[in-house]
Amino acid sequence: MRHFLTLKDFSKEEILEMISLAQKIKAQTKKKEFVPYMERQTLGMIFEKSSTRTRVSFETGIYQLGGIGLFLSSGDIQLGRGEPMKDTARVISRMVDMVMIRTFSQKKIEEFALYSRVPVINGLTDEYHPAQLMADYLTMVEYGKADNPVCAYVGDGNNMAHSWLMLASKMGFELRIATPAGYECDAGIVADAMAFAAQSGAKISIGNDPKAAVKGADVVTTDTWVSMGKEEEKERRVADFAGYIVDNAMMSCARSDAIFLHCLPAYRGYEVGEELFETHAETIFAEAENRLHAQKGIMVWLDQHRLDKVSN
Ligand code: CP
Ligand code: NVA
Repeated sequence: MRHFLTLKDFSKEEILEMISLAQKIKAQTKKKEFVPYMERQTLGMIFEKSSTRTRVSFETGIYQLGGIGLFLSSGDIQLGRGEPMKDTARVISRMVDMVMIRTFSQKKIEEFALYSRVPVINGLTDEYHPAQLMADYLTMVEYGKADNPVCAYVGDGNNMAHSWLMLASKMGFELRIATPAGYECDAGIVADAMAFAAQSGAKISIGNDPKAAVKGADVVTTDTWVSMGKEEEKERRVADFAGYIVDNAMMSCARSDAIFLHCLPAYRGYEVGEELFETHAETIFAEAENRLHAQKGIMVWLDQHRLDKVSN
């Protein structure tokens, strides 16, 4: 049985298999062909943080695959009152067929997975947001930007930056990350990405100059400066991130046909300029819709790779 906790655990071929499944199921869905790949299966969805896209896309996705989603807010289940993660995992995974979790540390989701009888999907942790990156990659494929692109990530060295590192280093494309000093990516995650890059041929560069990162890029992306759980640092972060807004001036350093991606929610006037955002709204909201399609690819792939099914 495989879990989807970070792209670190997947090969390029496996990522492409999930993307192909997503494309196939997306085309079927667009024709209103709802193939019951996961008939009568239940997806438990545990949220310890807020969500719009992740909740709606997983719940709608499992329903369209013939199953049902259970929204489990930590404020409403015993986990929020101190029941251990490992007990929650042992209970819930005896009742449902797959689990998606949005939580704080990656360690918590790893602990859940260790005790789970069913596949576990990362719906965002402090360290990673791999489901988002599958949607981003699907969007790059659809917009003709997946063939050896130069990608630039400008902003916080957070879960999104880490997930971009994993995607680029596995798929073998160029990624330039620019963060303010003091907000760099986790050194261990960068080291892992560099090791994968040495095998895949990816070119990874990390620095503190956003314009240099964006220069000639095919794909430019950013994320909030104040991730969930960091709200108390907002004032300091806004000051420290001065000069990191991706606006028309920053984007003019990229290729003229570059696309702009944003995982959302977007905070205009902070990490992204209003005009730049609205100019690229079509791609940004295609990316948001692709959460639905990419995650169906992930769920169906995990379902197809359960040990019981593989050995049958
Ligand atoms: N991009 C993303 O994960 O959005 P939500 O926080 O709304 O789920
Ligand atoms: N980095 C952001 C992503 C939100 C989807 C956060 O963790 O809040």
